[in-house]
Amino acid sequence: MLVLGIESSCDETGVALFDTEKGLIAQQLHTQMAMHAQYGGVVPELASRDHIRRLVPLTQNCLQEVNLSLNHIDAIAYTQGPGLGGALLAGASFANALAFALDKPIIEVHHLEGHLLSPLLSKNKPQFPFVALLVSGGHTQFMSVTDIGEYELLGQSVDDAAGEAFDKTAKLLGLDYPGGAKLAALAQEGTPNRFEFPRPMKHSGDLNLSFSGLKTAVLTLVNQLKEEQQLDTQTIKDICLAFENAVVDVLTHKAKQALKQTGFTELVVAGGVGANQALRQSLSKINAKVYFPELALCTDNGAMIAFAGAMHLKHAHPVGQFSVKPRWALTNTKE
Ligand code: KG4
Ligand code: ZN
Repeated sequence: MLVLGIESSCDETGVALFDTEKGLIAQQLHTQMAMHAQYGGVVPELASRDHIRRLVPLTQNCLQEVNLSLNHIDAIAYTQGPGLGGALLAGASFANALAFALDKPIIEVHHLEGHLLSPLLSKNKPQFPFVALLVSGGHTQFMSVTDIGEYELLGQSVDDAAGEAFDKTAKLLGLDYPGGAKLAALAQEGTPNRFEFPRPMKHSGDLNLSFSGLKTAVLTLVNQLKEEQQLDTQTIKDICLAFENAVVDVLTHKAKQALKQTGFTELVVAGGVGANQALRQSLSKINAKVYFPELALCTDNGAMIAFAGAMHLKHAHPVGQFSVKPRWALTNTKE
């Protein structure tokens, strides 16, 4: 069975083809990063309009890559939520219209389930059950995953998501949007131990996390250094390193705790912040099998949606009325 996957929840348009026999056979991605950079963040209306422009050519490119035509597609999967309403609608309308025209079934996919299952696209796959650490721009959650579709929330950020904290901290350090990866790159040139930031909720005893206080601690330091005219380039790198250390330390500590609490021996890391090298290194050292998606599959993409769709083929249904779910808990996917 050949599943076309459509992702349009935020600022990336992703299209991919997953073949249940051959695996992932084609994928195309367009990132709107440059378009939004001049505004310092994602402009939802611009995002929706750009998705509309990209969806047809990206789908054509995908099919051309493997010399297939629309008629070869057996089902169409798309991100129904969570995400930006207008951006989701662009992908949902395209997917439903195409499925209607081709008389093929449709499958709604939860964006975070796409992230969570993306390590299963690698050759070295995790085995159920496992703990999933979802770390993206919008979510930071620990989930217990016992099977496809069987997810239980163990804990989550009570305020900012880890990626959001990376991006906001990068912004206040004067780095361009989206600053998470840029902050991480500068951290590599930081001086170890020059600064130390608090580890919010590290010892809260549960699996919840908090990152907004950390961002405020950086802001206070930056303001003080600016007043003293000491915010030079090396100092910014040193702050980046101290910030990254704090996030990585808390996530690693809680990941160990999640494994202990569940008794599971495998940890899957997914979402954009999963691309962070310091986090990868730190989590690789814990006493468990740790799986990361390939770097290209960490951030938003169509492959994870095509794959999640293929895992839910039994839920494929004919096109009818459709809606998007800008807010949607991963534990409610059966609703
Ligand atoms: O999963 P994703 O592509 O989009 C969401 O669904 O949110 O994640 C994007 C987030 C952004 O906050 C971005 O700054 C962060 O992932 N990110 C990173 C790195 N690469 C992307 N954060 C830290 N280090 C990185 N190398
Ligand atoms: Zn995402």
